[in-house]
Amino acid sequence: MIFNPFHGEIYHFTEISSTMDAAKENLGSGALFVADYQTKGRGRIPQRQWQAQKGKNLLFTLILPLSGLQQAPLSLLAALALRRVLFSYGFDSKIKWPNDVLVNDAKIAGILVEIYQNYALLGVGINVNQTDFSDIEKKVTSIKLLKHKNCDCDGLLTHFLGELHTIVHNQHNWNREINQHLWAKDQIVDYYLDVNRQKKIHGKVLCVQADGALQMISEYGLEVLYSAEN
Ligand code: BTN
Repeated sequence: MIFNPFHGEIYHFTEISSTMDAAKENLGSGALFVADYQTKGRGRIPQRQWQAQKGKNLLFTLILPLSGLQQAPLSLLAALALRRVLFSYGFDSKIKWPNDVLVNDAKIAGILVEIYQNYALLGVGINVNQTDFSDIEKKVTSIKLLKHKNCDCDGLLTHFLGELHTIVHNQHNWNREINQHLWAKDQIVDYYLDVNRQKKIHGKVLCVQADGALQMISEYGLEVLYSAEN
């Protein structure tokens, strides 16, 4: 059983193109779209699909009205909510700006926010009970790989929604907690400004600002990034 504290309808699909599409077709405040499998799961980078084996992972989209959101980017609030859930399971995850959650430097979840009409569509993919990621190039992990036992997806989703609800309704100091657990903080990394990975900022990660931008310091001075990929 899933409990939705955002008080919207819950739609469940055994197979769908993408929960983002389902959300666009059924706009409503707090509505939740959950799929066992997506044939065209979308990643944040348009060329990249979100791949997840059938029935093993959490794939969902939550609709929130833009009017109820403040300055903080929803993707980072969602990353924070997931961090809190994973911490309660005993995993100390890092939030990788702009919107990934990593455990032991491996990606456990991806977050995608699309603005559509007066709503933010929050799409989240969490690797839960999948253990074979041989067709994915990047370093990834799942709750099962970390915990060595199956995890109940509905329970995890209910827990996540509860944390997100708390954070969205009390955004005081949200970026302080992000900065405490920010991936690569004080380390020198590259962030690419374009999808072709031609333009990059090479520098030290400083912090996430109150408006969600990433501050880095490069040889040219302070850099403030609003959109980039590592
Ligand atoms: C990323 O890391 O690039 C973001 C991935 C977001 C994937 C989720 S799965 C549920 C929702 N539906 C989609 O098509 N994408 C998001």
